[in-house]
Amino acid sequence: MTPTKTELLRDTIEHLDIKAHDVRPLVRAMGHMAFQARNLHRAATLYDAMLEDTECGVILCLAGSLFSAGLKQVVVDLVRHRMVDAIVSTGALIVDQDFFEALGFRHYRGSPHADDNTLRELHIDRIYDTFIDEDELRECDATIARLASELETRPYSSREFIGEMGAWLARHGKTRDSVVLAAHEAGVPIFCPAFSDCSAGFGLVHHQWTRAGRPQLSIDSARDFLELTRCRLALRDSGLFMVGGGVPKNFAQDVVVAADFVGQPVAMHKYAVQLTVADERDGALSGSTLREASSWGKVATTAEQMVYGEATLTLPLVAGYAFHQRHWEARPERRLVAACQ
Ligand SMILES: NC(=O)c1ccc[n+]([C@@H]2O[C@H](COP(=O)([O-])OP(=O)(O)OC[C@H]3O[C@@H](n4cnc5c(N)ncnc54)[C@H](O)[C@@H]3O)[C@@H](O)[C@H]2O)c1
Repeated sequence: MTPTKTELLRDTIEHLDIKAHDVRPLVRAMGHMAFQARNLHRAATLYDAMLEDTECGVILCLAGSLFSAGLKQVVVDLVRHRMVDAIVSTGALIVDQDFFEALGFRHYRGSPHADDNTLRELHIDRIYDTFIDEDELRECDATIARLASELETRPYSSREFIGEMGAWLARHGKTRDSVVLAAHEAGVPIFCPAFSDCSAGFGLVHHQWTRAGRPQLSIDSARDFLELTRCRLALRDSGLFMVGGGVPKNFAQDVVVAADFVGQPVAMHKYAVQLTVADERDGALSGSTLREASSWGKVATTAEQMVYGEATLTLPLVAGYAFHQRHWEARPERRLVAACQ
């Protein structure tokens, strides 16, 4: 018998709490193993070293369906505990997944073997083994369209627009556990260089379509790059903590080159960690090694580590290790949003 929508959208994805699990003994033991276990241990100690180095600002890069998979609270905690100073992300994570849940909606535990025709008829979207109510996603699109229509009609960086989303959530959000809201409160800028490639894009298309011939809000991606470059210029040193690859990885790596290009040379990223499933054989950016990035003058080679593993397994261990080391307690609150203006 075909299941009903209520039956399919019953078991919610629950977000992992790194505060509740001291993974340090496990991660230390992995350091005496081989392969990705040892690499993960080194990545965790490098992230911890970035936090211990009080002159180093940390840029967190995010790609992949991380928040729908239960990793949202990990990033909320990194923001709230000064373990990250700026975020570069895909739009889907920030809008379709984080802002979406802040509107009161949830992701559901489904199955990769579900009948996709049935799902389509029931307005259920699938991300591998996770289900989403398409009607709720449409509400997220519409909220972005309404928000855009309430703002001054001019070009915005994605950082500015996401800041407005944070201010909106402070007034109307249904949960405090939101990356957009936590970042807004902590002065942590969030950049989505390909902001229209997600639910925000539908909202902005609707905004521009319905305002044809009149002044419109738009997103200025070059301004994002300028603002992130300004963030780097405000730091003595920088470290990259990258989860997945894609546009966020390249965008954050490139600020070193951008600073040089505007006559304000800065040091290469002093630390770099990447958790990814992509390898280097196809020559594409997502799997390119951090040593390769060094040949482009972006990342120093002494403190870099790739970890080949899926992020639902690797991020809780690396972030959890650094959280329980508690070096974040001595870090300054940088509020890099101020450097973007
Ligand atoms: N992911 C979605 O469900 C979704 C939904 C709507 C829009 N989009 C848009 O599609 C574009 C691509 O985004 P994307 O999030 O699919 O990233 P992506 O496909 O660009 O991912 C880049 C790389 O990150 C690595 N990666 C991804 N997930 C990983 C994981 N769980 N563990 C380890 N490594 C992982 C892989 O190597 C991948 O090649 C973005 O503009 C985004 O806004 C994505």
